Amino acid sequence: MSSAKPHFTDRFASRLDDCGTEDAFVVLAQAKALEAQGRDIVHLQIGEPDFDTPRNIIDKAHWALDHGYTHYTGSAGAMEHREKYAEYVCQRYGVEGVTGENIVIYPGAKPIVFLTAMALVDPGDEVIIFDPTYPGYEAAVQLMGGVIKRLPLTEDTGFRFDHEQLKQLVSNKTKLFYLNTPQNPTGGVLTQGDLDFVAELAREYGFYVLSDEIYNRFVYEGEHASMLKVPEFRDQLIFLDGHSKTYAMTGWRLGFSVTSPALARRLTLLATNSFSCTAAFTQVAGIEALLGDQSGSQAMIAEFKARRSLIVDGLNSIPGVSCTMPKGAFYVFPNIKEYTEKAGRTSLDVQRYILQNYGVALLAGTSFGKNGEGYLRLSYANSRENIQKAIDLLREAFASLA
Ligand SMILES: Cc1ncc(COP(=O)(O)O)c(C=O)c1O
Repeated sequence: MSSAKPHFTDRFASRLDDCGTEDAFVVLAQAKALEAQGRDIVHLQIGEPDFDTPRNIIDKAHWALDHGYTHYTGSAGAMEHREKYAEYVCQRYGVEGVTGENIVIYPGAKPIVFLTAMALVDPGDEVIIFDPTYPGYEAAVQLMGGVIKRLPLTEDTGFRFDHEQLKQLVSNKTKLFYLNTPQNPTGGVLTQGDLDFVAELAREYGFYVLSDEIYNRFVYEGEHASMLKVPEFRDQLIFLDGHSKTYAMTGWRLGFSVTSPALARRLTLLATNSFSCTAAFTQVAGIEALLGDQSGSQAMIAEFKARRSLIVDGLNSIPGVSCTMPKGAFYVFPNIKEYTEKAGRTSLDVQRYILQNYGVALLAGTSFGKNGEGYLRLSYANSRENIQKAIDLLREAFASLA
């Protein structure tokens, strides 16, 4: 007797059955659905600058299209472009010895998160991530069969981590640590001392560190601490950067990594076998972004700094809500425990209630890990006018929850 023929809809690969997602995109879709019904929504859910890409970058892309940059390049990017990205890295971080061989260019920064997990994580390998943190790391590790170990970030330290807790988490099974500074979702930043400490442990236990520094220009107090500045740590480092945030280029899809040449070759193999290469003309425009006139980006970042004060002051003026002043990125992570654990609700309940009843789209802290319970994440990549409108609506919303 032949067994029943399976129906094709039951034949999706099971590895995606428990795969996580990025709630920012889920809530964006919900907010758009409400807008389609005629509702007015203030969008504070997604990390996307509301500015246009600076003119010099757009002009360079036009130029590149007109000058034949319309073909495949090498999978890691054209070597002449990789050399330019390397030149930028050396300039920006005051380091030497980064060359084109260290650089791989990708369509967005997110592929770096994913392909690094694919290149390094075998089933059963342990991978450390912050909690709360950017959700892309966990999804990538889970898909490779890795085991997640969570390192808490707490409000009282400005969302830095406890060195002793990290020490307890690492072992010879640790393969990779996804580190992020300035952070999504908290806006917290790490110190150079924190990074030195990570490097010391990584050397001792032989694990890799992916340092996601995509928000490196969004540092409002002091200097950006970078893993690239840690001496003698290049061979275990995957440095991640991208154009999406700094140059308002989310839709262009452009990012790059700095690694050892050996790891760059493994990542390039994955690039060849997945997307072939990043669009040639965007690679060229990306050079203009990094090495050309910075005034557009600088003006945008100055505006974000002003918005940061507006949103933090606004949130702190709402009874029962408290928000520390984040030092980086463009997110705030207010504490709303008065309205959650003290009132028998979750952050997700509050997120849904506020969107449905007050038209403000924001995210529950738990979209970034269980330590995010009792918090919300708001992106201030929106106009001052809209931020003020959101604060007024939130004041009413929380009054109705009190
Ligand atoms: C911490 C972090 N890393 C990486 C990314 C991905 O950036 P991209 O849009 O360039 O893929 C994001 C985007 O939100 C992010 O917040």
